Amino acid sequence: MATPVVLIAGDGIGPEVTSAMQEVLEAAGAQVTWVEAHAGLPAVERFGDVLPQQTLDLCRRYRVALKGPCTTPVGKGFRSINVRLRKELDLYASVRPVCTLPGVDVPYDNVDLVVVRENTEGLYSGQEHVVVPGVVESLRLITRFACERIVRYAFELARQQGRRRVTFCHKADVMPMSDGLFLAVAREVADEFPFVGFEEMHVDALCMQLALDPSRYDVLVMENLFGDVLSDLCAGLVGGLGLVPGANIGTRCAIFEAVHGSAPDIAGKGLANPVALIRSAAMMLEHIGQRAVAARIEASVRKTLQAHAGLTRDLGGDGNTATLTKALIRNL
Ligand code: NAI
Repeated sequence: MATPVVLIAGDGIGPEVTSAMQEVLEAAGAQVTWVEAHAGLPAVERFGDVLPQQTLDLCRRYRVALKGPCTTPVGKGFRSINVRLRKELDLYASVRPVCTLPGVDVPYDNVDLVVVRENTEGLYSGQEHVVVPGVVESLRLITRFACERIVRYAFELARQQGRRRVTFCHKADVMPMSDGLFLAVAREVADEFPFVGFEEMHVDALCMQLALDPSRYDVLVMENLFGDVLSDLCAGLVGGLGLVPGANIGTRCAIFEAVHGSAPDIAGKGLANPVALIRSAAMMLEHIGQRAVAARIEASVRKTLQAHAGLTRDLGGDGNTATLTKALIRNL
């Protein structure tokens, strides 16, 4: 029986990469019924909001969604759609698997790590105020509850995927209260998983080590701002945002999405690389139990990249969205 999945095409290159993804999933035999929902610029025109209530209701009802990128209009009073989605649906874990792909020219081999980022608080809790004119304060909110559930999520993921080690990334020497609490909780949770290795690292040292030898890392877990920066850094280690999938997971709902934005500079030109969204869709299929189809899609991505077949310009090819989609379908 087909599983209903909420589909938010987004805007900019969103609709282009979404229809490429749908073609590949259909050819791969995914058993999915798409439930269309709106967000981004088309939703403003139709519903007066970048993230209409109906979209949130559909995500709550069906519990699994696949989302294309959405533009957040700057200076028009709209809050970031992604921040709102994470808050409203309590999508507390951002999960980004990062691995070396064949045929992609990068300086590193054997990268195979997962970045697990706390998605709901830290410096992105949205608590800012003007103290006096010229002085602004941002609150870095850290709670035991959120620390515990994100570190536990990272260890559970390591256990399920047979990974060897969780690296907790922090700056407790400079922020002894907030990151001190996070670190203390991470150590407590680590004690519950003696069969998974645990390592603590300062975020600055970790960035340097990742640049020197990313292959020694396995699962990385951290607070929101560090995670935002580190997950893009890690995407860069394996070829960039056009390739890396992502998921935002909550207790009741999960939204899968490519990590790149709406790329207004190439929107509507048929040049967008759909691989990141297609790999996010493969993660979604795994989440709903369609593992064989997910594996077939991932294998096709690897084969296509290795053969340099139909690749888009960001991947060094001279093809476009259509040629890459065709190659991916041929290689299924
Ligand atoms: P961006 O990721 O849209 O673009 C950065 C550069 O990467 C551009 O040169 C673009 O052409 C290229 N690029 C991105 N994805 C590509 C793809 N799939 N294929 C080929 N080239 C690709 O980042 P930018 O310009 O900072 O943001 C544009 C808009 O997207 C903003 O309104 C931002 O708020 C929004 N955004 C939305 C996200 C989401 O919905 N998940 C995430 C990041 C940004």
